Amino acid sequence: MSELALLGGPKAVPAYDEEMFHWPRVTPEMEEAVLAVLRSGDMSGIGITREFEKKFAAWMGVKYALASPNGTGALQEAMFAVGVGMNCELICPSLTYWASCLPAVGLGARVVFADVEPDTLCLDPASFEAHITPRTKAVVVVHYLGHPADMDPIMEIAKRHGIKVIEDVSHAQGGWYKGRRLGTMGDVGACSMMSGKSFSIGEGGMLYTNSKAVYEKALTFGHYERIGEIKDLKLPEGAGKLPWGGCKHRINQIASAMGLCQLGKYEREIAEIDRAMKYFWNGIRDIEGLRMHYPEKWENSTKAGWYEAKLFYDAQAFGGLSLTRFAEALRAEGVRDIACGCNTPLHHSTLFSRIDIYGGLGRPTANLFDPSDAAVPPGALPAAEAANDRLLGVPSFRRFRPEELDLYIAAYRKVAAHYGDLLTGDRKEKAEGIFYHF
Ligand SMILES: Cc1ncc(COP(=O)(O)O)c(C=O)c1O
Repeated sequence: MSELALLGGPKAVPAYDEEMFHWPRVTPEMEEAVLAVLRSGDMSGIGITREFEKKFAAWMGVKYALASPNGTGALQEAMFAVGVGMNCELICPSLTYWASCLPAVGLGARVVFADVEPDTLCLDPASFEAHITPRTKAVVVVHYLGHPADMDPIMEIAKRHGIKVIEDVSHAQGGWYKGRRLGTMGDVGACSMMSGKSFSIGEGGMLYTNSKAVYEKALTFGHYERIGEIKDLKLPEGAGKLPWGGCKHRINQIASAMGLCQLGKYEREIAEIDRAMKYFWNGIRDIEGLRMHYPEKWENSTKAGWYEAKLFYDAQAFGGLSLTRFAEALRAEGVRDIACGCNTPLHHSTLFSRIDIYGGLGRPTANLFDPSDAAVPPGALPAAEAANDRLLGVPSFRRFRPEELDLYIAAYRKVAAHYGDLLTGDRKEKAEGIFYHF
C-alpha cells in the first residue's frame, strides 16, 4: 500500500485548525469601533472616513488618499483622474481580475491587453511597450497575487511615451518593490479592501497619490459632496457639484472604522504571515519541481500578506504528473483550501471581443476604433495563457505555529516523494482557475 493518504495511507495533516487560516482578524477594539458607528447612526458621515484616509496616506507616505465603497470604484476614478476617457486606450495585463480594466470601458475607452512575465506574473514591460499606440493614455500595473511588478522598466517606458501609470495594489497592500511602497511609484495607486484581501475592511476601496491634480479630479467623479473642497483644479463654469461619473463613491463609515483599526495592527499581522509563509517555504524549497512565486531577485521587495500564494509547478520534475492530481493528493493529506490556477486571461473573454456592450456601435465595443475583429488570437499572450496550468495552491497561513506548519511541510514533501504512485489514475484534468467572464 502507498503511504499517500489518497491511496489508503495515513494523513499528514490529521486535523484542520480553522484559526490558522481565519481572516480578517476581528479584534474587540474593531467590534467596539463598528458598534460606535452603528450607535451614533453616522454610517453616511465623513469624519471617520477622513481620519482613515489621512492615516492611510501617512502609512503609504503619500499626500492624498480617497476611500470608496469598493476597489472597482477606486480604480475607475483613478482611470478618470489620469485622463482615461473617450477615444483613448488603456493597456492592462490580461492576467488579472476584471476590475483592473473593465471600468475603463464604462469611461468610453478601449482596453488593450498585454502579456505578463512568466516569473512575476505581472505586466511584461516589453509587451507593454509593444502594445502602445498613439491612443494609449494609461497603463494599469497589477501587483498580481501579491508579487510586485517590475516597476523600473515600466516607469521608464511610460515616461518615454507620456503614458500615465495606475497601480492596482488590490493583492499587495503594504508591499514593497526595491524599498519603495507599491502604489506610490506610478501616478496613482488604487486597491480593493474587500474581505478576502490582505488589508480587509469588509468592502472598500482606496485611491492614493502624491498628485493634487489627480486627487482633485478623482473627487469630481463620485464624491460630489466634497467637490467644494477642490482648490486648484479649474472646473468649467457651471460644473456645479454633481458627480461627473454619475456615481456615488461615499464609503460606509462602518468600513472606515474597521480600516482605522486595521491600520493599527496590519503591519504586525503581515509580519506574522510573512514569517509563517517563509517557514513553510523553507521547509519545501529543496523539492525539485516546486518554486515559490516570490520576488527573490530584488532587494527589499516583499509579498505583503501573501494574498493567494502559489507555487510554480513543473510537471516534468514529477514524471508528467498533472498539477490537479498533485493537488488532489495534497487535499487527501488534509491540506484544505488550496486553489490551483489563477484568473483566466481576460483577452479570452467574449465580453471584450464579441459584445456591443452599450448597444448602438453595431460591432463589439472592443472594436471601437478598428471595425475588424478585435479578438486577440490564441497564443498571442503566451505567458498569461500558460499561467493557469502552472500554479499550485498554497494554504494561506495566517499564524506562525511551527508545529502545525511542519505538518503541512510534511504533506507537500510526502506527495512529492511518492508522486510515482499517483501516475496511474491521473486524469490530467486542467487546473480549475477562476472563471468570471464567459
Ligand atoms: C486585482 C484586483 N483589482 C480590483 C479588484 C476589485 O476590487 P473590489 O472587489 O473591492 O471592487 C479586485 C478584487 O476584488 C482584484 O483582485
